[in-house]
Amino acid sequence: MIVVLGANGQLGSAFVRLLGREAIPVTRGDLDLADTGTIVPWLEHLRPDLVINCAAYTAVDQAEKDPDTARRVNATAVGELARGTAAIGARLVTFSTDYVFDGNKGRPYVESDPTSPINVYGSTKEEGERLALEADPQALVIRTSWVMSGTHQNFIRTILRLMHAGPVRVVDDQVGRPTFADDLAAGTMRVLDAGLTGIVHLTNAGQTTWWGLSREIAAMAGLEAEVVPITTAESGRLAARPADSRLDSERLAAAGVASLPHYRESLERAVRQQLEGGVLL
Ligand SMILES: NC(=O)c1ccc[n+]([C@@H]2O[C@H](COP(=O)([O-])OP(=O)(O)OC[C@H]3O[C@@H](n4cnc5c(N)ncnc54)[C@H](OP(=O)(O)O)[C@@H]3O)[C@@H](O)[C@H]2O)c1
Repeated sequence: MIVVLGANGQLGSAFVRLLGREAIPVTRGDLDLADTGTIVPWLEHLRPDLVINCAAYTAVDQAEKDPDTARRVNATAVGELARGTAAIGARLVTFSTDYVFDGNKGRPYVESDPTSPINVYGSTKEEGERLALEADPQALVIRTSWVMSGTHQNFIRTILRLMHAGPVRVVDDQVGRPTFADDLAAGTMRVLDAGLTGIVHLTNAGQTTWWGLSREIAAMAGLEAEVVPITTAESGRLAARPADSRLDSERLAAAGVASLPHYRESLERAVRQQLEGGVLL
């Protein structure tokens, strides 16, 4: 039995689509991860074979104002999940982020690079990685970046709406790798099948800035909006962001696991899906 936590989110719903009837979708209403004391008993009662944890406190700026909730969901709860899976002999896969790095390396980060988060969200996710692997050394922690999809509220939907209304200002000094939820879900199953444990980096190939990505989205949508490049400082966001958080993997090729394709094809599909969903109405 496979349970997918965070089943209403971008990545969770991609797993539910991919696994179909094999997956039991679990939402906050079924198991609130902030209620950390309930996690191990819940797992002991259900006794799944595989737990795919896509739930997380993902509001990066809000986490600066509410670090306790972010830490409970992204760190303590992940440790409890791992304690539970270790106790019942289930596999656990949980997701982490490029934001565990400070972005100053100047080259893509690999799994063995030291972490150094610069915001609350990144710190809580880093703690979650550590707690997961301490409690269940067989757990798989997939670090990914800039997660998007054609189905949810995300950067693509926001930028399409804004561009439709007029000129937009978009940050051009953060470099990363957009990663599409469907590609990530399929890739994660391949990593699991290969039997990898510990930390693995998994993103779509390619790199861009948020400004570059906006220009691609505009072209794909046939919008002629003016997209003005600005700096992170000018964006006035609450949480600091790493300037260059590109992830590479030093483990996937060695394990014979195919890397994910370039993000562009999935971006085109996601833009189409968002437009068909009426995002400009
Ligand atoms: N989004 C990104 O750019 C990005 C980048 C790097 C890594 N990641 C990581 O990738 C994973 C998937 O991200 P995503 O983009 O799919 O996130 P998402 O769309 O924001 O979904 C997160 C899910 O977690 C659920 N959740 C939040 N708090 C919960 C709680 N207390 N109890 C139970 N469920 C709770 C949410 O439930 P509700 O629907 O009820 O709110 C939501 O369904 C996460 O681990 C995230 O940290 C994301």
